[in-house]
Amino acid sequence: MEVIEKNFNNIDDLEMLDIGCGLTSILNIIDFGKKYGVDIGVHKLSTEGFDLNKDIYWIAGDGEYLPFENDSLDIVFSTNSLDHIPHPKKCLKEIKRVLKHNGLFFLIIDIFSKDRGYRNKKHPNSLTSEEIKKMLSDFKIFKEIAMDEEPVGVSNYINSKQKRKSKSVKKDNKTSLFLICTNSPTK
Ligand SMILES: C[S@@+](CC[C@H](N)C(=O)[O-])C[C@H]1O[C@@H](n2cnc3c(N)ncnc32)[C@H](O)[C@@H]1O
Repeated sequence: MEVIEKNFNNIDDLEMLDIGCGLTSILNIIDFGKKYGVDIGVHKLSTEGFDLNKDIYWIAGDGEYLPFENDSLDIVFSTNSLDHIPHPKKCLKEIKRVLKHNGLFFLIIDIFSKDRGYRNKKHPNSLTSEEIKKMLSDFKIFKEIAMDEEPVGVSNYINSKQKRKSKSVKKDNKTSLFLICTNSPTK
């Protein structure tokens, strides 16, 4: 939040998108601005009877084809979703396209010591920190935090609100990386 307040004058005017938001979207704990959540599984969530937070504009969509104009969003989040998307580079290109020039991109992702490629149906990618940073060459990374805990603290919080059992996280050689990027290239 501190980073957001420092980078923008009027946080109530911000337009924010969470890609692969799921029910546990970080947008649930943001109480300012206009909030969009894109997820390929939105219909499934609503048909399964989950309460979708009414402060969020839920959009059934694919992170590789974002239904937003160029330069239209102030902030994009991807927490624990980029490795769920078949072509992460394509998604990052879309994020670059929709973010405003001074926009911020918050990325939280599982990382591995070696690229293990396809992990399972839900995780078509398992990337290393170096691979992710290479993919982010069109952005400028200005904050990097390595994490060895459950990547999204918010998931547990929301799970308890939704009265769902939070899953314990099995540790293999996986850790997580939290990057905050601006929409300007490193080159
Ligand atoms: C592990 S959940 C993360 C949910 C939430 N962002 C969080 O941090 O708790 C991954 C989400 O990515 C979504 N997803 C998978 N492929 C996607 C795609 N191509 N486009 C958009 N969302 C996708 C899934 O439906 C799922 O809700």
